[in-house]
Amino acid sequence: YSKVTTFSRYAAVSRVTGFFKRSGKMAVPPAYVDLGKSAKDIFNKGYGFGLVKLDVKTKSSSGVEFKTSGSSNIDNSKVTGTLETKYKWAEYGLTFTEKWSTENTLGTEVCVEDQITKGLKLNFETTFSPNTGKKSGKIKTAYKREYVNAGLDVDLDFAGPTIHGAAVAGYDGWLAGYQMTIDSAKSKMTHSNFSIGYKTGDFQLHTNVNNGSEFGGSIYQKVNDKLETAVNLAWTAGSNGTRFGIAAKYQLDSSASLSAKVNNASLVGIGYTQTLRPGMKVTLSALVDGKNINAGGHKLGLGLELEA
Ligand SMILES: *[C@@H]1O[C@H](CO)[C@@H](O)[C@H](O)[C@H]1NC(C)=O
Ligand SMILES: *[C@@H]1O[C@H](CO)[C@@H](O)[C@H](O)[C@H]1NC(C)=O
Ligand SMILES: *[C@@H]1O[C@H](CO)[C@@H](O)[C@H](O)[C@H]1NC(C)=O
Ligand SMILES: *[C@@H]1O[C@H](CO)[C@@H](O)[C@H](O)[C@H]1NC(C)=O
Repeated sequence: YSKVTTFSRYAAVSRVTGFFKRSGKMAVPPAYVDLGKSAKDIFNKGYGFGLVKLDVKTKSSSGVEFKTSGSSNIDNSKVTGTLETKYKWAEYGLTFTEKWSTENTLGTEVCVEDQITKGLKLNFETTFSPNTGKKSGKIKTAYKREYVNAGLDVDLDFAGPTIHGAAVAGYDGWLAGYQMTIDSAKSKMTHSNFSIGYKTGDFQLHTNVNNGSEFGGSIYQKVNDKLETAVNLAWTAGSNGTRFGIAAKYQLDSSASLSAKVNNASLVGIGYTQTLRPGMKVTLSALVDGKNINAGGHKLGLGLELEA
């Protein structure tokens, strides 16, 4: 008898939570910087024009993650590299990250998540450049829960700290966000961005106004299991040139995908990504200037990602 009531109680609860999940009301909205991310990813991922790039990710048995990345610019042969080590201390919700780059900057990051209260993330970041002696520091706080995702960052880089604030509210698939920067030395708001979007499982609309003068919008659609498309529009008040682009990603099979994009300046980008074996991925890409096919100036790219 008690088993039956427990079961029916469970069924009732899961029906209710299922209803809320389906209607999207319980969802945690994304951070401001991630609004419109699905469309951005279709435009940016799977390409690497003008670069030969190698990314390697490994993990030691003690749980330290290593990430190295090197790239060579085909045009000017400039080589850059970064090295990152990350250690997670799960018990205390702590993550330590050390970064080094060939530009000679050292970075340290300590992150505490879900400790003081669930959904709260604190981040302390410092960078140091031994050559120039330049130091910078950042404190970031982020809080997320149902309906709300907010963040407050303090940048200690300048004479007086710069404060960045952002908040996103979400309800029933609708998202509204606001972002601003305050320069405390001048006690003045230097920037403010506003955004509205709508999101369902396979469709996302995003519009934004940056500092009252730049307007933008994007649409992302997952047409079916294999095809994703995105459209992007932008214009600046006071100029009559609209910038726009269309992009698509097609999953050829479980290991290969093809990406293509074109913008209003007739630049055509094509990318091909193939997983050679688990943990080994190669990306080939090309950017062609459609207005000057014969003139050259096209760009090629090659990327290799290894993960063990
Ligand atoms: C607003 O958007 C612009 C362009 O995307 C960005 O450079 C700027 O940092 C954003 N403003 C704030 C306050 O973050
Ligand atoms: C943003 O707008 C404010 C006020 O309109 C202005 O003072 C500021 O210079 C603008 N910032 C940028 C980066 O255009
Ligand atoms: C904007 O349009 C006007 C006429 O409608 C034209 O004279 C001007 O050159 C255009 N400006 C730009 C930047 O295209
Ligand atoms: C196309 O894009 C360029 C920059 O990429 C921009 O300057 C131009 O105004 C855009 N619009 C048209 C209609 O060509």
